[in-house]
Amino acid sequence: MTAHADQSALETMAKFRECYSTGTESIESRIEREVIGFPGATGYTTFEQVGDLTNALRLPRRARILDVGSGAGWPALPVASATAAHTVLTDLVSEGVTRALRCPGCADWRTAPAVAVASGAALPFKARSFDAVTHADVLCCVGSKLRMLTASRRVLKPGGRTAFFTIHVAPALSPSARRDFARSRSFHAYSPSPVTDLLATAGFADIEERDVTPAYLHTACAWYEAWTRHETEARALLGSVKFDEQQAYRLESIRGIEGGFLKRSLFSAMRPHPRIPFAIPSTDPPCGDPPDDGADRPLQSAC
Ligand SMILES: C[S@@+](CC[C@H](N)C(=O)[O-])C[C@H]1O[C@@H](n2cnc3c(N)ncnc32)[C@H](O)[C@@H]1O
Repeated sequence: MTAHADQSALETMAKFRECYSTGTESIESRIEREVIGFPGATGYTTFEQVGDLTNALRLPRRARILDVGSGAGWPALPVASATAAHTVLTDLVSEGVTRALRCPGCADWRTAPAVAVASGAALPFKARSFDAVTHADVLCCVGSKLRMLTASRRVLKPGGRTAFFTIHVAPALSPSARRDFARSRSFHAYSPSPVTDLLATAGFADIEERDVTPAYLHTACAWYEAWTRHETEARALLGSVKFDEQQAYRLESIRGIEGGFLKRSLFSAMRPHPRIPFAIPSTDPPCGDPPDDGADRPLQSAC
């Protein structure tokens, strides 16, 4: 990891620690309830989109789901509740998942969630241990996006699916426009590579994308307006410098969406089943997939 990446990971952790450490009656929690309907939610997933995410996972019976970057449990907890799947919540910081465990009624569920503090790029689970891997507005915050997707593929069972919402740079822009946008000060965490390319490079198949940018614009405006409504209280709490910085970032994102630079999509993809090599007696080297034992190898074919 470079010193810059280290610094940016530390800043991300500090920011989210603070987000999840506020009380449920704090101004932040009240705004989160007004905008998303769930205190502790920090992204853009709406109630309606929880169903879309659940459907995209195509879960088998008695499924095991891994949620990455769970924060306070949105939208992983309603997905777990709707499907009765055994769910593991993970995040880089402990404050969010600890708060998720305190969600009302959570401990009484038939399959109460388990939690772990872990980076999405280095998941501490056995290969092939989950039927589905999900996240919402996490890939866009992570520096090593390909490593996170490759780690997700490793822990999925063959035939298992990943489904996630992420903000990304519009793939229809020219490569240089995408690069320039991803280098801008506010959006440096976004990758110029299309997410579908990253998924394919990470070894996923059956890749699907559903554009949800209109809903993203609506929710981005709702966040901006809610903070404006509570401006006096928020300035007193955060200080004017921080309040203005956060509102400027929200406005810049809204302009990025309206200008066609930023998109948000629901992506889903499958970990393919290993191909059984077709045995032709030959002196040529075999030309099948590399042994699929769950180890992370460079994803390239020798043939
Ligand atoms: C925008 S929030 C989304 C949280 C939640 N899914 C939601 O929609 O409210 C991004 C979350 O990703 C977590 N995160 C950031 N980088 C991460 C990483 N490398 N590995 C795991 N989690 C990470 C943050 O701590 C934060 O909780």
